[in-house]
Amino acid sequence: MTKEKELTVQDLPGVGPTTAEKLAAAGIDTLLAVAVSSIGVLTEEAGVSDSVARKMIQAARDMMEMGFETADTILDKRAEVIKIKTGSEGFDEVMGGGFETGAITECYGEFGSGKTQVGHQLAVNVQIPKDQGGNESKVIYIDTENTFRPERILQMAEKAGLDPDTVLKNIKIARAYNSDHQMLLAEKSEELLKTGEYKLLIVDSLTAHFRAEFIGRGTLSERQQKLNKHMHTLLKLADMYNCCVLVTNQVMSKPNVMFGDPTQAIGGHVVGHSSTFRIYLRKGKKGSRVAKLVDSPNLPENECMFFVNTSGLNDKEE
Ligand code: GTP
Ligand code: MG
Repeated sequence: MTKEKELTVQDLPGVGPTTAEKLAAAGIDTLLAVAVSSIGVLTEEAGVSDSVARKMIQAARDMMEMGFETADTILDKRAEVIKIKTGSEGFDEVMGGGFETGAITECYGEFGSGKTQVGHQLAVNVQIPKDQGGNESKVIYIDTENTFRPERILQMAEKAGLDPDTVLKNIKIARAYNSDHQMLLAEKSEELLKTGEYKLLIVDSLTAHFRAEFIGRGTLSERQQKLNKHMHTLLKLADMYNCCVLVTNQVMSKPNVMFGDPTQAIGGHVVGHSSTFRIYLRKGKKGSRVAKLVDSPNLPENECMFFVNTSGLNDKEE
């Protein structure tokens, strides 16, 4: 990985200034970006032939000594993982200390189950100074349903004792008008992530546009293909920039289920398999929310209860 800084995209075979420029325009401006790219993307973006694209990827991988890493390197990488606190001790515990960077966490649940609230809360908490247990980070928020509320951020910032103006300024919001726009915004957010100032990327909601645009059985495979591509972009960003990606997802009812919960997350395996953590949110009694960890590499299945109140997520009713 150390060689990455010395060598540039132009050191690759078949890449002159023009090709490098085209690649840069597509956001592929590091060896790592080429190495994790696909032949299809390179031929499309840089106008090179298949065989040149294949050689470029191979050379980038060789130069970067990609492939196998020893377990101690992985341990070092794990040490860089930041955990973003939720404000509810129980919720943090279920998450193994908080929402992790370098991974995608999917929050799914019915309308009003608190998915957007969790997004707002993390967008504030990630900004708390490091000496107070926070991450001093900025936030990228892709809003697809127009449910981002600065007023709610203000309330939460005040509760956290942060300067409300600064907190608002540190959140970059983009409204996505359709699924293509949403995918483009995810790709564009790489420019912000490169600065290293952003450790949280929220896509709220991940699936609403896809669900609305691809109706009927005939369009299902196209929808899943696009969702898959989108998830891969997000996964790459989480990994390359050690960033926490939070996506929200609705559920649909499964009328054929007789026992257990008759709901399931939209997007099926495509979304479920790309997410490292999956949390199922449910409404509880008296303004409370129940969070259930459905999938995680760290912990066995776990459940907690927290409250949504005017000041944010909390374990106790206020
Ligand atoms: P959809 O996006 O519709 O699928 O729902 P969601 O899961 O994103 O739900 P959301 O996070 O918007 O949660 C809405 C719930 O949060 C409401 O039912 C309220 O109980 C609660 N809520 C939202 N804002 C506030 C607030 O300012 N104060 C309090 N006390 N509760 C709030
Ligand atoms: Mg919502």
